[in-house]
Amino acid sequence: MAGNTFGQLFKLTSFGESHGRAIGGVIDGCPAGIVLDLEKIQLELNRRKPGQSAIVTQRKEPDTVEIYSGLFEGKTTGTPIGFAIHNTNQKSKDYSHIKDSYRPSHADYVYDQKYGFRDYRGGGRSSARETASRVVAGAIAKQFLENIKINAFVSQVGEIKLQKEYQQLDFSKIESNAVRCPDLEMAEKMEEYIKSIKKQGDTIGGVITCVIQNVPIGLGEPVFDKLHAELGKAMLSINAVKGFEYGSGFEGVLMKGSEHNDQFNEDGTTSTNRSGGVQGGISNGMDIYFNIAFKPVATVLQSYETINKEGEKVMTQGKGRHDPCVVPRAVPIVEAMAAMVLADYTLLARTNKI
Ligand SMILES: Cc1cc2nc3c(=O)[nH]c(=O)nc-3n(C[C@H](O)[C@H](O)[C@H](O)COP(=O)(O)O)c2cc1C
Repeated sequence: MAGNTFGQLFKLTSFGESHGRAIGGVIDGCPAGIVLDLEKIQLELNRRKPGQSAIVTQRKEPDTVEIYSGLFEGKTTGTPIGFAIHNTNQKSKDYSHIKDSYRPSHADYVYDQKYGFRDYRGGGRSSARETASRVVAGAIAKQFLENIKINAFVSQVGEIKLQKEYQQLDFSKIESNAVRCPDLEMAEKMEEYIKSIKKQGDTIGGVITCVIQNVPIGLGEPVFDKLHAELGKAMLSINAVKGFEYGSGFEGVLMKGSEHNDQFNEDGTTSTNRSGGVQGGISNGMDIYFNIAFKPVATVLQSYETINKEGEKVMTQGKGRHDPCVVPRAVPIVEAMAAMVLADYTLLARTNKI
């Protein structure tokens, strides 16, 4: 199974399944001499962990990370950073009903077809449990980046959509509510809505907006490794992501070039930022911002029709502990993926000039 390594210089290889002994990874290419605050890594994991509020899956995992290598006297040594998070709260019995049938729109069918068999317990490798490893690597990347500020937040749940621009929001409010929306009035509406969806045993989708500030000019490697292309790949690799919209995005289609162009100020900044901080695949020093659409996830706690391994139609009842809406827990995952891209591209930029 290829495809478990992300990044060119700052590289994460992740391992593990939802109901295996542990998940974890190896970070290769992290520069030496970074003072690592381990508490900050754990805090990021706590933002992603299950059971953190009434509107997420009730699997209870402490998600404590153990770091095995690459650290000495509180600093990175430049050698591979190996780490693991033990799985402690698996309930594999909850998944015996999907051993021989496939949840529609989950990864069950394609894993079986591709590999010939699958670990059906908790979704195995296709479970978003794997993303905890990304959060660890992202938390380390954030500490390497220092000045670059990455803030993601929930901007939409179903039809409930924030009407404000990100500049009007107070990012310090993101962590003040279970949804992770900085507009508290909207956060309350979103929370109530997710609760009502959960009561129905159903799921709902949402949008996360990510804003990256203090990015220096010059990150991005044209032509195939443009900065926004890598951010797109990073975000689309997150489970349940169905859309990525960069800068002015699809709305930009409605404008003429003369309206859409970001006019220069004399210092090289621009008076608008429809480019989203990247032009020609290279950061221009303005804020980077993008939206990520998450689908309503597949596991509904209702009875549904599907097929079994023999291709026969069967009725199944959804069971287990699941997220009715994944965006609150996906916020730290988005930030982690963005941090890994920025760390990787900061290192790549050092190879361009003598
Ligand atoms: C934070 C997070 C939590 C998730 N929790 C669930 C869940 O409880 N139940 C579920 O069916 N899918 C969940 N998913 C989505 C599945 O992992 C994903 O839909 C599945 O692997 C199929 O991949 P795809 O939707 O990207 O095609 C979650 C995704 C994220 C990002």
